[in-house]
Amino acid sequence: MPCNCCEITDNTFGEDDAKANLKDYRKRGPAKQTKLILEAIRSLKLKDIALLDIGGGIGTIHHELLADSTAQSATHVDASSAYLKAAEAESAKRGNSERVQFIHADFTDVASEISQADVVTLDRVVCCYPNFRELLKSASSHAKRAVVMTYPREWLWLKFGLMISNFIQWIIRNPFRVFAHPIAEFDALMNEQGFKRTSTRRLLIWEMALFERNS
Ligand SMILES: C[S@@+](CC[C@H](N)C(=O)[O-])C[C@H]1O[C@@H](n2cnc3c(N)ncnc32)[C@H](O)[C@@H]1O
Repeated sequence: MPCNCCEITDNTFGEDDAKANLKDYRKRGPAKQTKLILEAIRSLKLKDIALLDIGGGIGTIHHELLADSTAQSATHVDASSAYLKAAEAESAKRGNSERVQFIHADFTDVASEISQADVVTLDRVVCCYPNFRELLKSASSHAKRAVVMTYPREWLWLKFGLMISNFIQWIIRNPFRVFAHPIAEFDALMNEQGFKRTSTRRLLIWEMALFERNS
């Protein structure tokens, strides 16, 4: 589906959000749902992996995994220039500038130019993107070992809340929408791509899924 998603997303996740997120991360550490992703990756007992973080925001996942040597290098592709700038600044502060490649783009537009990684992460990203099938297909084709993602649970009340928030966006003529995509379709697509779900963990709003490539 052609869409000017990068521009819409770029306008949505701006500098104020990025600054607030970074401040929060420095004060409190990773958010609860991000911790689930980190725990899932660490449960694989890998060392020195190449990580591809799609829509990584301020870069929490690579900051954490580079710090404990789970990752040796990371590629961070993000549609938000403000988030990417904040992630880059934090990487520099941690002495990791040489180990992280930052790419400002809609991942589906640049996927063919990006190398495979051991693990691919999408933390609260599929819910910001209309064409989750294309995004997940591209993401999984880049994962040698695993894809780890978080997304909204399929609660009825949550879907209702998203409908209201999307309706308000429509009224104020903001084109950004949040999506509660069907979780069963994530699994069907990932199975087709040669992955199986090996772990699921849930919070009130977010669900985390670890998909490992079939050996
Ligand atoms: C809700 S934020 C989550 C940021 C971070 N992962 C976190 O959990 O704090 C969604 C992020 O996904 C990015 N994003 C959404 N769709 C994308 C796409 N197709 N390609 C690259 N980045 C994307 C946005 O720019 C934004 O940084």
